[in-house]
Amino acid sequence: MSKFPDISNLRVKLLKEINDIKSLDQLDNIRVSALGKKGAITSLLKNISSQTIEVRKDFGEQVNALKRQITDEIEICKSALQQAEITKKISQDVIDVTLPLTNTNLENGKIHPISQVTEEIIEIFSDMGFNIAEGPDIEDEHHNFNSLNIPESHPARQMVDTFYLPGKDGNSRLLRTHTSPVQIRTMMREEPPIRIIAPGRTYRSDSDQTHTPMFHQVEGLVIDQDANMGQLKWCLEEFCKAFFEVENIKMRLRPSYFPFTEPSLEVDIACQKDKNRLIVGEGSDWLEVLGSGMVHPQVLRNVNLDPSKYKGFAFGLGIDRLAMLKYGMTDLRSFFDSDLRWLRHYGFRALDIPSLSRGLSE
Ligand code: DAH
Repeated sequence: MSKFPDISNLRVKLLKEINDIKSLDQLDNIRVSALGKKGAITSLLKNISSQTIEVRKDFGEQVNALKRQITDEIEICKSALQQAEITKKISQDVIDVTLPLTNTNLENGKIHPISQVTEEIIEIFSDMGFNIAEGPDIEDEHHNFNSLNIPESHPARQMVDTFYLPGKDGNSRLLRTHTSPVQIRTMMREEPPIRIIAPGRTYRSDSDQTHTPMFHQVEGLVIDQDANMGQLKWCLEEFCKAFFEVENIKMRLRPSYFPFTEPSLEVDIACQKDKNRLIVGEGSDWLEVLGSGMVHPQVLRNVNLDPSKYKGFAFGLGIDRLAMLKYGMTDLRSFFDSDLRWLRHYGFRALDIPSLSRGLSE
């Protein structure tokens, strides 16, 4: 039996209360009832001075011990309750990432056909071992024309309507008219063997149903000691088959002219109209899909490559045109109208990521 039953009874009572506690609010009530201004322990403390001299020391020590014990217990209980609250919150917030996605939000945004087709093209050429290269949209005459064997006086400069930017004479800034300058930048930067494609925006002052001032191209470039026309033809054939997702494709290589290739050729693929659908790969009509050729020796010399040691082939294709052919849009201008109805109709679902193993398109 304790010398001071008041103290021991209070200890038992408070410890039991603390032990039974369910919430932080309840705990605070206990704290106030014990340690507050009018609390039970506080009034015992006030009683110390009224004790007789003989018991005062013991009594004081025990009340203070009780105060420390209860303060500590309350603190321990408080942090346990706080921890339990956090754990509960976390468990309620759990997201099961293994659950199947609900479609609702995914359907709200669509991938633009240009982005989708660019990804399809990248997927095909990556599979053949091509790397992706990039160059700036704002080019200079040197990379866009001169290095590609198109000097100032060359009639090919008049073949396209260039957007020039205000600037210095001699090497004016311009919006690149094709992705071919990326060939130059890549050959200046890398040692052969080179195998790259360069997708990107290109610009010409032109606008009608099949032309917009900004459009998209993919450049291809292979430089190696024995790069040849056979490889070029194989690459393009494999590309067209994979892109249009057909087993066989009838192709025609036509002699053409580009200042940066010699010989130059244009590639047509056979096609046929069936009611409103265009069948690609067979038929009696021809569709021009890309320009290509063997890299001109002068272009190799311009980037300090020895044409007797290295050969190359290159090609350039219009992404927008390929998208129109594959997915049946008739007016290129609508690609850039930002009309949500058009985007919802022609756009792709966010998770339809082009992959050769799964099938390029659904
Ligand atoms: N740069 C050409 C154009 O925009 C396309 C082109 C043709 C690119 C032949 C090439 C090529 O790399 O070899 O019309």
